[in-house]
Amino acid sequence: MNEIDRIHNLLEKEICDFSYPKTPELLYEPIKYIMGLRAKRIRPLFLLISYNLYKSDFSNVISPALAIEFFHNFTLLHDDIMDNAPLRRGNSTVHMKWDKNIAILSGDAMMIQAYKLISQVESHYLEKVLDIFGKTANQVCEGQQFDMDFENSSKVTISEYIRMIQFKTAVLLAASLKIGAIIGGASEKDQNHLYEFGINIGLAFQLKDDLLDVFGNESFGKQTGGDILSNKKTFLYLKALQLADEITKKKLQDYYSKSTNSINKVNSVKTIFSKLNVDKHTVALMKSYYVKGMKHLDLVESKNKATLIYFANNLMDRTS
Ligand code: IPE
Ligand code: IPE
Ligand code: MG
Ligand code: MG
Ligand code: MG
Repeated sequence: MNEIDRIHNLLEKEICDFSYPKTPELLYEPIKYIMGLRAKRIRPLFLLISYNLYKSDFSNVISPALAIEFFHNFTLLHDDIMDNAPLRRGNSTVHMKWDKNIAILSGDAMMIQAYKLISQVESHYLEKVLDIFGKTANQVCEGQQFDMDFENSSKVTISEYIRMIQFKTAVLLAASLKIGAIIGGASEKDQNHLYEFGINIGLAFQLKDDLLDVFGNESFGKQTGGDILSNKKTFLYLKALQLADEITKKKLQDYYSKSTNSINKVNSVKTIFSKLNVDKHTVALMKSYYVKGMKHLDLVESKNKATLIYFANNLMDRTS
């Protein structure tokens, strides 16, 4: 068993053993459901692996690792309502299986649970950890609002898109790494390099998510073309606009000004994206962020970085 699997198993057991109140059932059942579905657990794993660069006894970092996963799952429940998503991790989303009000309230309870867990961090590090956690949580909300604002805007630039994904996605990966480093007793310099590593890997991660949303297969576990149906201004769309001739550009803009649930729209947009090779451009941009991230990791003073490098590498090639 490799090191990642060992840490993953340990984490999975903690998630599985987590105990919830019995009632109200309709508050806690959806939480158990979403937390129990097979997931990558990258954020708590980043936290644990980052801590492990400096220390080996995980008992101090289980609570913050769980906190981050609860927080992430809270954002998913609300995100799936906002994105009108039917599928998550290969299963029904909570708002489809139950209803929207249930998904909102179970999400709220998970966010509160996340705060309870993060507050259990050793007092010596607590102020710093709470500070980054709160700041990050707020940025995720800001990123999510930009994401929705952009659905109704035809003037989004690539740099605005990058800033939006930095907020909605990358900062939580970065904060996970930084919290692990703080509790591991890392130097300020290492904490910051790990944070910047996380930002760059996080940008690459969301680019891949956007790519898989269009070109992924069943193992992705989400509805194919959901971003196209919601008129999400992803890098794929924005790059396609740059590359397209005037007629194709008009066609794309036209598709993205309508709200429809039609599979024809998904197929037509997908064909345009394919013809313009936007997938290759997306992978190239991912790689450039990956390389930037690795430069920060190079500057981290630990002899123990192989696991983190291996993990980040696997994320780039993921299909789920
Ligand atoms: C999904 O996150 C939300 C994004 C930021 C793209 P993950 O891809 O980490 O989802 P799970 O937790 O493994 O299901
Ligand atoms: C979600 O981005 C980011 C957060 C949940 C904060 P997406 O909307 O692309 O995530 P998926 O594709 O639904 O997992
Ligand atoms: Mg979504
Ligand atoms: Mg979303
Ligand atoms: Mg997505």
